Amino acid sequence: MDIATQRKWDNAVRGYDLMNGFGPERRWEPWKRELFSHMAGNVLFLAIGTGQDIQFFPPGRRITAIDISERMLDQARPRAEKYDGDLDLRHLDVHDLDYPTATFDQVFTSCTFCSVPNPVDGLRALGRVLKPGGTLGMFEHTGSRFFPFGLMLDLMTPLTRRLGPELNRNTPDNVQRAGFVDVVVEPVYLDVVKIIRARRPH
Ligand SMILES: C[S@@+](CC[C@H](N)C(=O)[O-])C[C@H]1O[C@@H](n2cnc3c(N)ncnc32)[C@H](O)[C@@H]1O
Repeated sequence: MDIATQRKWDNAVRGYDLMNGFGPERRWEPWKRELFSHMAGNVLFLAIGTGQDIQFFPPGRRITAIDISERMLDQARPRAEKYDGDLDLRHLDVHDLDYPTATFDQVFTSCTFCSVPNPVDGLRALGRVLKPGGTLGMFEHTGSRFFPFGLMLDLMTPLTRRLGPELNRNTPDNVQRAGFVDVVVEPVYLDVVKIIRARRPH
């Protein structure tokens, strides 16, 4: 377990729902609902945070949701208990996944790979636990190709990484570098917010 990352996100819990729970969640709701509507089979969700995304999960699914922060999971627990399906929360670092190879049919993430310290290694770890041909579905914010957004995100990242996420990551590239194939990017907002879909090769 990466204790420094765990502490950083434990500390970010205070005010997290206030900052992210209302405007952003309402704004991104249609995209998240559509992405999560494809959940099927044995699903791994990284990282559940305070559980804001649970309201957008379709009912009746079998989902294991993990997070490195115990304090985030404490907030998520009451939301998980209300989920109409099988939702198991676990305290786990994506870099230490203890599941056998090819356990899950699908993996989903939401605003996660701005935060995982070693994104390509983290994505490789997800690829290992996915079944061959299994799918990855991500709702992520990244750096941007568009001026001045890309430059602004580059300038803000040294500060934001101390408190939480890195804003200028190239997550689609990282997905490819981690060995996923059929990588498809659907822009949601200004080449910053995007849905990324990919597949573990057979
Ligand atoms: C920006 S928050 C997003 C939380 C949630 N998905 C949401 O959209 O509200 C990033 C989350 O990633 C988790 N995280 C960061 N590094 C992680 C790691 N190595 N393994 C598991 N979870 C991690 C943090 O604890 C935090 O809950």
